[in-house]
Amino acid sequence: MKKPLLQVALDSADMATALQHASCIAEHVDVIEAGTVLAFAQGMEAVRELRKRYPAHRLVCDMKLLDAGEMLATGAMSAGADWITVGAAAHIETVSAAHQVATQMGGEVQIELFGHWTLADAKLWKEHGISQVIYHRSRDAKAAGVCWGQADLTRMKDLSDLGLSVSVTGGIVPEDIHLFREIDVQAFIAGRALTGSNGVQIAESFHQEINRYWQG
Ligand code: 5RP
Ligand code: MG
Repeated sequence: MKKPLLQVALDSADMATALQHASCIAEHVDVIEAGTVLAFAQGMEAVRELRKRYPAHRLVCDMKLLDAGEMLATGAMSAGADWITVGAAAHIETVSAAHQVATQMGGEVQIELFGHWTLADAKLWKEHGISQVIYHRSRDAKAAGVCWGQADLTRMKDLSDLGLSVSVTGGIVPEDIHLFREIDVQAFIAGRALTGSNGVQIAESFHQEINRYWQG
């Protein structure tokens, strides 16, 4: 299994805070995400600004796209995103349209697994060319005390067995990493943990834990 990447999610609503967090943490992560909160508050200008400042980083626009796949994907890809997110509830034609735009522009779509979805959906995404999914514990579910469990790990393994790369997110902290040691994780995505006052130290703890369980 290859070593998982570390991704920071910039989820502040104002650009100045997002850029300040990015400047503190960028050299300690592999992937930078214009988070949903940032993308909705600042639009694609946020993606454009991050691309300008971090030309060598992989850049994700976590736009959780649900409709108008071609137009919205074109906007994010033109602004400089490498990967864009599409919600699991999107119609397969939306998934397909976003995927076509992203691949034509050298990028990829990641399906955000929220709410109700099935392995049959995952097979359909795969048939339409999708290669990545994000396994997401929602912010609100986490706040209500929902923990990672065996059912999550089994579903991640099933997705991986279908040939989909799985990223993991949702209130992740370094102490959680060992739970996923049997899974071929593409990236661990952390927002609040990496953008707090001790973000750099926490990034180092993430890397230590990743190195402990994945040699790739
Ligand atoms: C919320 C998101 C967040 O970017 C993701 O959950 C990571 O942030 P945190 O680690 O703070 O939960 O996509 O929908
Ligand atoms: Mg996000």
